[in-house]
Amino acid sequence: MRIAIGSDHAGFRGKEALKASLVAAGNQVEDVGTHSEESCDYTDFAIGVAERVASGKAERGIILCGTGIGSAIAANKVAGIRAALVHDGFTAEMSRRHNNANVLVMGARVLAEDRIRDLAKAWLETPFDGGRHERRIGKIAEYEKSC
Ligand code: RB5
Repeated sequence: MRIAIGSDHAGFRGKEALKASLVAAGNQVEDVGTHSEESCDYTDFAIGVAERVASGKAERGIILCGTGIGSAIAANKVAGIRAALVHDGFTAEMSRRHNNANVLVMGARVLAEDRIRDLAKAWLETPFDGGRHERRIGKIAEYEKSC
């Protein structure tokens, strides 16, 4: 899978660890930064990942910041993005099955690195259920078009 990944300084270590496991699993990973633990703005990397997914350059996006909150807010401003802030296996699974989330957001100050890896794996492997959920996310897309 083509995956765009990004983080701010708070998510940098988690991003590096997750990137290694995604590459080892055979994914094509584009790292949009940040590239160190120097303080930076999560906004830039969240929007960078979201734009790559929205344009089709990446099939999915994964973003890490301290809590995941700011990155989820920013990524969801990009048209076509359904970014899900996920904390556990249930929300990771449901964000795919019911919401067809195309961007996964996690808090690197909330979750341990092995948890981040496991949630990302589950999220990447879970398909969208479609059906009534297609209609619901279709309404979000319609709303975006009307703005
Ligand atoms: C950075 O200190 C922190 O605010 C950021 O990583 C994130 O948690 C924002 O939502």
